Amino acid sequence: MGQPEFDKTVTLAMTGASGAQYGLRLLQCLLAANVRVWLLLSDAARVVIDTETDCQLPEGDEDELQRFLDDRFGAAAGQLKVFGKRDWFSPVASGTGAPASMVICPASGGTLSAIACGASNNLIERAADVALKERRQLILVPREAPYSEIHLENMLKLTRMGAMILPASPGFYQRPQSLQDLVDFVVARLLDQLGVEQELLPNWGE
Ligand SMILES: Cc1cc2nc3c(=O)[nH]c(=O)nc-3n(C[C@H](O)[C@H](O)[C@H](O)COP(=O)(O)O)c2cc1C
Repeated sequence: MGQPEFDKTVTLAMTGASGAQYGLRLLQCLLAANVRVWLLLSDAARVVIDTETDCQLPEGDEDELQRFLDDRFGAAAGQLKVFGKRDWFSPVASGTGAPASMVICPASGGTLSAIACGASNNLIERAADVALKERRQLILVPREAPYSEIHLENMLKLTRMGAMILPASPGFYQRPQSLQDLVDFVVARLLDQLGVEQELLPNWGE
């Protein structure tokens, strides 16, 4: 038996902004759509996931986290790979290995700032730096209220560099009935941008 074939690969980074449910739901949908996911979690993202969701992550290393998430989301062998924050030899750390698309969901103000100035101090920042320098797809999902001038300037700067700011701002025109509907609104827009077929939300006019 050879390696299972996946339709595409996406780097998904979760950072410590509120809205962990968006990132976890995106992960679930990508895996269900036969996308291979390279997952990066900041330390703050782990705290937010524990605080905001029923997904209580194990305390251990990336291998333990990997087994936990494989199990929780029913990932196929080799479909989900978790990389540590100092894993400079991972494919996402170089233009020669990074996939065509990266999403940071949710994206904290701190990570926005670090990417906007090219800090590259951890693997999430480095992977985003690689996406920018290689002119690959980079989507950031910020969540803050209100935005400061610094947040707004960083978002404008990143947009001008070719990244996309897709805020965690669900619409209400589809008359959401539940929290899940609101989460799915944003996740559907992300899947659309990634070119992954979704049935969470019809397109406008359908
Ligand atoms: C429960 C919780 C909610 C938070 N919500 C936000 C938020 O909505 N937006 C934000 O930019 N930071 C938020 N923070 C603060 C960030 O987690 C913090 O600035 C952290 O240093 C970000 O690090 P990271 O970018 O490496 O994940 C939150 C923190 C916690 C614990």
